[in-house]
Amino acid sequence: MFLRNAWYVAAWEREVGEAPYATTILGDQVAIYRGASGKYAALADACPHRKVPLSMGRVKGDDVECGYHGLVFDCTGSCVRAPGDAKPPQGAQVRSYPIEPRYGLLWIWMGEPQLADPSEIFEAEHWGDPAWGTTAGDDMVFACNYLHITDNLLDPSHVAWVHPGSFAGDGSDDTPLQVTIADDGVTVWRWMLDTGPAPFYAPYLRFAGNCDRKQQYEMRYPCNALIKAYVSPAGTGGEDKPVHPDAFLMDSFNFLTPVDETTTRYFWFQMRNVAADDAEASRRFAASVRGAFEEDRTILQASQRGMAESTSSNVNLRTDSGGIRFRHRLAQMIEAELARLT
Ligand code: FES
Ligand SMILES: [Fe+2]
Repeated sequence: MFLRNAWYVAAWEREVGEAPYATTILGDQVAIYRGASGKYAALADACPHRKVPLSMGRVKGDDVECGYHGLVFDCTGSCVRAPGDAKPPQGAQVRSYPIEPRYGLLWIWMGEPQLADPSEIFEAEHWGDPAWGTTAGDDMVFACNYLHITDNLLDPSHVAWVHPGSFAGDGSDDTPLQVTIADDGVTVWRWMLDTGPAPFYAPYLRFAGNCDRKQQYEMRYPCNALIKAYVSPAGTGGEDKPVHPDAFLMDSFNFLTPVDETTTRYFWFQMRNVAADDAEASRRFAASVRGAFEEDRTILQASQRGMAESTSSNVNLRTDSGGIRFRHRLAQMIEAELARLT
């Protein structure tokens, strides 16, 4: 069960080279290529002739040629050449998906093409701002349903147990969470005041001593998240206070692409307001984040197996509130979309 009318991350731009790139998104097999004009195209990955994946073929100009009998398809999925036939056979057409580059990522629209609006691609507020440093970004595959990850990304409390060496800190285990519901998603947040800084942030702080720290986890439908970290000198943080000039800010972008019901590809990059041009800092950030997400992967894959195999009844905690409300609304959106399309 997936929302189709939405932008998902299909791949990094750097992954799509001279050969077509094969991937699976929401159960659909897709071939992505970059034509000679530089434009990207995404087509259903099966030639209508004998269903050989187009990703096994070759890019020719702005078109792709099937590697079996040479049918050629343009970026709209229309067959434009059939060797040996005067014109392409009727019905020689594959589905094409709108695809847009943004932030070094390729965003694909999996639903009705006429509804695809690139202005709805997830916004990275500080993208291109020279005062902010950006990590190169990375990805990994989680053997779990994407909703286990949306639960996790709406649960700041898990850092206390899953990430003791990075994001955990005083108060991260039991400071109550606040939940804000909006039309486009759910936000879970909390302030932890006058605490020791978490290990992940400590090397980058421009002040000594204790801090006021905010965790803000924003999950937008269907499954993209912005995790905002705010760390400022103790006594300067808290709701409605202005951003302190020494505050450390980090925006962590987390984009989930369901491959199928039990597999999710997880893409991310981070932006921070310190050491903007420091390549070594970017490298250390990237390594720390990947290490933390490996910790999430271990836990979430175990949870997926446990939830699938266990017959005992399930309980929820107060900290599940944001995740449950997100799942509930997303399920309604998926149902409404299915009802409209069928
Ligand atoms: S299978 Fe593609 S041209 Fe025959
Ligand atoms: Fe985590």
